[in-house]
Amino acid sequence: MELTREEERILGGNKGEGAEKAMEILLSIGELNDAPRLIPVKRVQIAGVSYKTIGDAGLDFIRDLAESGARVSTFATLNPAGVDLGADNTLVPKRFRDKQTEILEAYKKMGATPSCTCTPYLAGNKPGLDEHIAFAESSAVAYTNSVLGARTNRESAITALASAITGKTPYYGLHLEENRLPTVQIDVEAEPVGSMDYSILGYHVGKHVDGIPLFTGIDPSPEDYKALSAGLATGKITMFHVLGKTPNKTVGSKKLERVNYSAEDKLAVQGELNTCDDPDIICLGCPHYSLEEIKSLIELRPKKEVWVYTSRHVKEKAEGLIDNPNIKLISDTCMVVSPLEEMGIKSIGTNSTKCAYYSSTLSGQKIMFAGIKDLLG
Ligand code: F3S
Repeated sequence: MELTREEERILGGNKGEGAEKAMEILLSIGELNDAPRLIPVKRVQIAGVSYKTIGDAGLDFIRDLAESGARVSTFATLNPAGVDLGADNTLVPKRFRDKQTEILEAYKKMGATPSCTCTPYLAGNKPGLDEHIAFAESSAVAYTNSVLGARTNRESAITALASAITGKTPYYGLHLEENRLPTVQIDVEAEPVGSMDYSILGYHVGKHVDGIPLFTGIDPSPEDYKALSAGLATGKITMFHVLGKTPNKTVGSKKLERVNYSAEDKLAVQGELNTCDDPDIICLGCPHYSLEEIKSLIELRPKKEVWVYTSRHVKEKAEGLIDNPNIKLISDTCMVVSPLEEMGIKSIGTNSTKCAYYSSTLSGQKIMFAGIKDLLG
């Protein structure tokens, strides 16, 4: 790869050991992917924040990096942590809380913004059209590439952090115009209505299709796009198009293979993910709820307790609107990356395919997978 003088100097250690290590990581990823050079980024979304997902090895890595003097040089926001930073979290084991605090302190020492949300684009880290960024949260990668028209590969926790430190990312993959065209057309026969349907559509396509889908026959709302992105990202999809709606170019693509999405496909996902009918708790907000979604929930006047995960940014705006003690707003974390199983919770109700999939595979939860009205009884 061709390096600028500044990049050579960082690699030579003139900005410290941490920056040198970060540059080495990006160079090896770039070389693996035949990137000709690095390009600048000004925004990063860092994953690998919850102690539940990174454990002691991750904590040691981040703490060592912070202690070596590494500092971020971009606007760098964080994915959800394992606890709500504004709550007492007494149900969470103390060891977990202490480790989580250490992780966040290390990130803060490096200069990252502890936004702790998977919807950075709703909490102040919203890239523009054609802006090159380095995002690691998979649902935010699909959303920002597809709905906002920004350009990012699906970064790992380590490469995103390396980009935050150096302000660079390797120029390959979805940063290049020619790699952003659709590769398969999805003709949606079973028209989705509401975000659960979009989450199911995304999950089905993410599971069965590789590449960049072009959807026809749908007209998603902003909240639907969020659900669709997370469903797709539960598989390998990092970018999609919706014909006539999303901002990226679709002209110039080769003749596309066509795949139908039918009512049977939807039923198959529901059958796969639903494993119980009387959950311990109801969890909404995967991805983190928007203000609009919280307002819609308030109108439903839940008579059962609902745990609603959102960003602190949105929570601060929503708190004054909540007039129902059954709506519990929780920020900075989520049902998947918090240790619910260590808090005695064995089953959850959700309308999100990403939540259903990861809560069951990572945390062993039983899942009631249903629409909000069914969850609320
Ligand atoms: Fe966000 Fe947690 Fe879902 S990070 S996308 S709420 S699994």
